[in-house]
Amino acid sequence: MRRLFGLLGPCLTSAIVAIPIPLRAQVSVASPDGRNQVTVEIRDGRLTYSLARDGRNLILPSVLGFEFHGAPTLRDSLRITDTTRDSHDEWWTQPWGEVTRVHDHHNELAVSVEETTAPNRRFTLRIRAFNDGIGFRYEFMDHPGFSSYEITDELTEFALADNARAWWIPSDRPRMDRSEELYSSAPVSTLDSVQTPLTLEFTDGHTFMVIHEANLDHYARMFLKGPRMEGRTLHAALAPMADGTKVSGGTPFVTPWRTIQVADRVTDLAPSLLGLNLNPPNAIGGTGWIHPMKYVGIWWGMHLGVQTWSSGPHHGATTANAKRYIDFAAANGFGGVLVEGWNTGWDGDWIKNRDAFSFTQAYPDYDLAEVARYAHEKGVRLIVHNETSGGIDNYERQLDSAFTLYHSLGLDAIKTGYVTDLVRNGDSHYSQIMVDHYRHVIGMAARDSIMVDVHEPMHDTGERRTWPNMMSREGARGQEYNAWSGDGGNPPEHETILFFTRLLAGPMDYTPGIFDILEKSSGHARRPEEARVRTTLAKQLALYVVLYSPLQMAADLPENYEHQPAFQFIKDVAVDWDTTRVIDGRIGDYVVVARRMRGGQTWFLGAITDEQRRSFDVPLTFLTPGKSYIAEIYADGPNANWLDNPLPVTITRRSVTSATRLHLALAPGGGQAIRIRPQQVTGDK
Ligand code: NOJ
Ligand code: CA
Repeated sequence: MRRLFGLLGPCLTSAIVAIPIPLRAQVSVASPDGRNQVTVEIRDGRLTYSLARDGRNLILPSVLGFEFHGAPTLRDSLRITDTTRDSHDEWWTQPWGEVTRVHDHHNELAVSVEETTAPNRRFTLRIRAFNDGIGFRYEFMDHPGFSSYEITDELTEFALADNARAWWIPSDRPRMDRSEELYSSAPVSTLDSVQTPLTLEFTDGHTFMVIHEANLDHYARMFLKGPRMEGRTLHAALAPMADGTKVSGGTPFVTPWRTIQVADRVTDLAPSLLGLNLNPPNAIGGTGWIHPMKYVGIWWGMHLGVQTWSSGPHHGATTANAKRYIDFAAANGFGGVLVEGWNTGWDGDWIKNRDAFSFTQAYPDYDLAEVARYAHEKGVRLIVHNETSGGIDNYERQLDSAFTLYHSLGLDAIKTGYVTDLVRNGDSHYSQIMVDHYRHVIGMAARDSIMVDVHEPMHDTGERRTWPNMMSREGARGQEYNAWSGDGGNPPEHETILFFTRLLAGPMDYTPGIFDILEKSSGHARRPEEARVRTTLAKQLALYVVLYSPLQMAADLPENYEHQPAFQFIKDVAVDWDTTRVIDGRIGDYVVVARRMRGGQTWFLGAITDEQRRSFDVPLTFLTPGKSYIAEIYADGPNANWLDNPLPVTITRRSVTSATRLHLALAPGGGQAIRIRPQQVTGDK
C-alpha cells in the first residue's frame, strides 16, 4: 500500500462521514496517535470544549461564544444538532522553510450548533486534532437576521488544568503596541493581559503547551486576558480599532483557528508546524522568483547614530554608499542590500509626519535607478525600504505606483515598517483594519513578484503557506534595542526565550551578526549599563542557526567584518533548510539546534546560552552513518564572556562522523556555531 502511494505521488487520504446525532450533548475527536482528545459538550446550555492528553486533562471544559453590538450574546441556550467527521493524511512541500516536507495528519470533527431560543442562530465548531496539538474555529453560514455583525468580544476560554508557568509579554500597552518587550515568566494564575504565542510549562515538567492562532484573516488579533489571581482561565481578547470595534463583517465567515500545540519535551515544540497545516495552500502559483537570502544594509549606522535616515551631511542612503554596500555584498556572496532612508519624508519628526513619506521619490543624493542597475550588474538585489510610521492610508494610496516602479527596476524585495504607538487614527497595530492592510500589502507585492519583510508587523499566524512571498518579520525585540534602548539592550537570556516563544509563530528578522559588540563604531565603547550587545561574538554567529529567518541580515557595518576570520561563518551559513533538529534546550537558559541545508548534505549547529557558562556533549547521530565530515567550529575563546571579554573566538577544524560526540563549551552569554560538511564532496557548501 505504501508503495502504491509512493507511485501515486503525495499520500492523501480523506473520508467524510456524517453522523446525525440530534440533541446529543457530548462528542469527541482524537489525534491520529490517539493521545490528544478534544471533547465538545453542552454544559448548562453552553457549548464547551476540553483537551486531554493520554487521558489527563490539560484544558478543562472551556466556554465558547461571542458578544455582538446590537445583537444578543451568543453563548447560552445552545444545542448540538449534528456532527460530521473527516480525516486527512497528506505530505506537502514548502518552497522554503525550517523543513522541506510537512505532514498534515489529523482527524476532524465539525459540530453543528443552534440556539434553542430566538434568534436561533446557528454555527459550526470545526476541530482538527493533530499529534502535535489541536485547532478549532467558528464558522457562520448565511443566516436570516444574521447577515452582518459587529463582534465586541470573543468569549473563547482556555481553562488550564494546571497552574503552568507562562512565558509572556504584555498586550495592554498601547504605547508599545509592537510586541517589542522583554519576556517574563510567571504562573498562569497571575497573568493579566498577554500576547500569543503563549508558551506554557506544566508543573510536571513533562508537558508543554503553546496557545496561538492560525490563518488570521479579516478578523482581529487574539490576545489573552489572564485570570489575575482568580483561577487559571485565559480569555480571548480581540485587538480593537480606534472606535472600540473588534470585528465587523458579514456572513458567511470563519474565525482564525485557535491553536493549542502540545509536546512532552520543550525541544519538541520547534519547528512548530501545526499553524502552517491550518492555513490554506499556496495561492500564488509559481514560486521560482522567491529566494531566501542573506543581506547587508545601510541600517546599523543609523541605529548607532553615526548616519541619518534624513537628508544632510550624514545621510546614509547615498548612491556612493549604496554602491559600496553592493560591492561588499557581491564580494562576500550576500544576495541582498537593504537601503533605509532613500526616499523623501524622513526629515523632521518622521513618526508624526507619516503622510509625508513618498515611496517612489528618492532624495537627490540617491539615484534609485542607477543603484538598481549597479546592483543588477553585480548580481545583488536591493531590498527597498518602506517605512510608513503607521500611515497606512498614505501607503495604500502609493502601493500600486511604488510596486510597479520597483518591479520595473527588477527589485524583488521590500522591508516595510510601522513605527508608531497606534497606527492611523488610534487603531491597534493588531486590529482588523491592520490585519486587512498587512494582507493587502502581501497580495499587492505578490502581484509584482516582490518578497516582503515586515517590521512592526501583524503577528505571524502561518500565512506564509498561502503567500510564500511573506518571508520574514520582526514582531519582537530585535537587535536594534542593543543600539539605543534605555535599559542596556537585550539581556543574555533574551534569545533563548525568543526561540521557544516568538519564533514558534514563524521566522524572525532579528538581524544578528554584530561583531563590534561594544559599539565603538558609535564613537565610544559603551559602558556595561549603556545599550550594547550583551553576547559574545561567537553567540552572534550561533544566532544564524538558532533564530530562523529566510532573510538573514549581517547587521554590522561592513568595516567591522574586514579581517575578521569569524566572518567566514556568516558567509558560509545557509538560510534555507531541509531538516531542523532541536537537540537540547530550556526556555530562558539555552538552546542547541542542528539544521541541514536545503538541497545539500551540510549541517549547521548553533548553541546559545544565557548569562551562565554551560557545556554540552552533542552526539552527531543526525549525520549519515559511515560518512566522514569536517566540522568547522567557531567557539568562545579563552576567558570569553559577554560582559568584559566578548570578542575572543577560537576557530578549529576536525573530522567527525555520526559516532562523534562533540563537546561544546559556551562562555557566560556565549555561543558556538559549527558547519559540518561532507569531507568528499566539493562544492556543497
Ligand atoms: C524600526 C525597525 O525595526 C528598524 O529596522 C528600522 O530601521 C526603523 N524602524 C526605521 O524604519
Ligand atoms: Ca522594530
